[in-house]
Amino acid sequence: MSIEEAVTESAPIFPPPERFQQGEVPVPHINSLEQYKELHEESVKNPTAFWGRVAKELLHWYRPFTQVNYGGFVDGDVQWFSDGQLNVAYNCVDRHAFANPDKVAIIWESDEPGQGEKITYRQLYQEVGKFANVLKKYKVRKGDTVCIYMPMVPEAAYAMLACARIGAVHSVVFAGFSADALRDRIQDAGCKILVTADQGKRGGKSIGLKVIADQALADCPSIEKVIVYQRTGDISVPFSSPRDVWWHEEVDNQSPVCPAETMNAEDPLFMLYTSGSTGKPKGVVHTTAGYLLGATATVKYIFDLHENDRFGCMADVGWITGHSYIVYGPLSNGITTVIFESIPTYPTPSRYWQLIDDHQLTQFYTAPTAIRALRRLGDEHVEPYKLDSLRVLGSVGEPINPEAWLWYHKVIGRERCAIVDTYWQTETGSIIVTPLPGAIATKPGSATLPFFGIDLAVLDPTTGQELLGNDVTGVLAIRQPFPSIARTVYDNHIRYLDTYMKPYHKYYFTGDGVTRDADGYYWIRGRVDDVINVSGHRLSTAEIESALILHPACAEAAVVGINDDVTGQAIVCFASLKSHHADETAITKAFVAQIRTHIGPFATPKRIVITPELPKTRSGKIMRRILRKVAGQEVTLADLEDEDGLRNKLGDLSTLADPSIVPTLIKKVAGRQ
Ligand code: PRX
Repeated sequence: MSIEEAVTESAPIFPPPERFQQGEVPVPHINSLEQYKELHEESVKNPTAFWGRVAKELLHWYRPFTQVNYGGFVDGDVQWFSDGQLNVAYNCVDRHAFANPDKVAIIWESDEPGQGEKITYRQLYQEVGKFANVLKKYKVRKGDTVCIYMPMVPEAAYAMLACARIGAVHSVVFAGFSADALRDRIQDAGCKILVTADQGKRGGKSIGLKVIADQALADCPSIEKVIVYQRTGDISVPFSSPRDVWWHEEVDNQSPVCPAETMNAEDPLFMLYTSGSTGKPKGVVHTTAGYLLGATATVKYIFDLHENDRFGCMADVGWITGHSYIVYGPLSNGITTVIFESIPTYPTPSRYWQLIDDHQLTQFYTAPTAIRALRRLGDEHVEPYKLDSLRVLGSVGEPINPEAWLWYHKVIGRERCAIVDTYWQTETGSIIVTPLPGAIATKPGSATLPFFGIDLAVLDPTTGQELLGNDVTGVLAIRQPFPSIARTVYDNHIRYLDTYMKPYHKYYFTGDGVTRDADGYYWIRGRVDDVINVSGHRLSTAEIESALILHPACAEAAVVGINDDVTGQAIVCFASLKSHHADETAITKAFVAQIRTHIGPFATPKRIVITPELPKTRSGKIMRRILRKVAGQEVTLADLEDEDGLRNKLGDLSTLADPSIVPTLIKKVAGRQ
């Protein structure tokens, strides 16, 4: 069943699990719909009182704030707690290391099962302190930018927290990005230091991160030092002395004590690049207090954290989910978090379930793509596991189809866990639409209701008028600022305003389509801009097109997303050539390689269609609507027999400069030409 069908048919409703009220497990922090409604109403009607209270309750401040919120979406000048002072590393590490030094902060599950380790809050304090001192030794100062290009090892978190400790701004680049993508991000942010590893390990394979980094650095003069963590030691890594230094040699002689810098609430904490609707990714900037508060409060209430919980988020630290729900949110709450280095199918499709039982995880958070892929592999990989430590199961990154939701609920949750389908974005910093385990009944496929402080509006996409009441479909916007909303795009505030604030005056525009159903529940419909979401990885069609155009043989390219049963969406590229090329297979391979080199392997297209022309209007605009339908095989060879039928399916074709391109494209996709 598609989400489309699920919204329109009366969806089944799952109340919060009964055992949450029976004393068998901790009583949920938010324990009834009434309590949620009351708090939500306060949070949007009186955000100053609500967030002022929560910020004092959840965070440690060096200097308390006197002003809670300032600015808004009209001018894009949002501030929270602006005269307060604090340090994120102090909040995530020190306060727990002092109170509970032997508590496990991080469970590191290594690629090869059984080779991981557990890191206590005391050790975390020491490792972060040592690495912060290394950064200081290399003259990293408050406000400097540090690039982190690391595999999923605890050192990635140490590096992030060390930056936070001394006030440096980190820019984590996902280790699946190519040398070109890494170079562009380092250049844009003007990073002074690169933290990387000799190799990364994933699913039994090694990835030569240092070699890739060296390629990137050929054109990054701002980098003064490269600190290399030795993950495998398997290869002799090229070292360029004195620029390159080994992590282990550097930390060896450092003191574990490094005073945490006093930071202003609005000082930047990190930037993270994400795709927009142009070819150039943007460095979304999050600031200290607001971001930390959003991450801390959401994970506490949405995953209903209690003191002895072990929280397993399977994302990568290179994405926002890893920032907020592997590192900052769980550690700020002082619980135990998991850093998972491997993939769900290595060495067997039971890896996640084994992990949950081995470490007695209480919450588990992953993406619909993984859920769908594991469901396909069969229940026999899950059945031998108890999974009885779990209370809350989360989903993130893309719409979850009801079948996958139900499987998650029945086969993994054994019908005794709450399922939280959490909707948010890199820009929002933390979850904004979600069920709360003890309070909000769920409908498979719906992210349900807004989190505290989130004031949602559904707008008519064309007029921008707000669609009031229930049973409405439009675009999703947010009416007023909340603490963890991004403050700017690095070095480009105009782009920030143009992308998020200008499309609909007075609102923050999410870029997603949405339905608010008869019960007021929100169903996210996916992007309405040129952003596509492959396995929960966000890519812009323009970014992929820019990569293709750089290939000497490519004349023009247009990229569309099509639905895919496992990855949610998949990439299809249409390209025309500068001159006839006899060997289409070879050119297709070259184009795939081009995208992998420019962006990274995760952007590998499902299909490349070489076409003599792209479908264009007389004024030269590419008609993507046609490409989307042809690529998704909504029109097929059979439709070519019926002109009216074809028009019905593709819409008005009269504006096409050359209508004969349509049959050519259909035949190409069907493999008949
Ligand atoms: O389209 C929405 C989709 O992912 C986009 C944000 O991508 P990114 O910034 O990479 O962050 C992903 C992790 C938060 C959104 O604009 N998206 C995210 N979560 C959901 C979702 N779509 C539907 N349901 C979700 N739960």
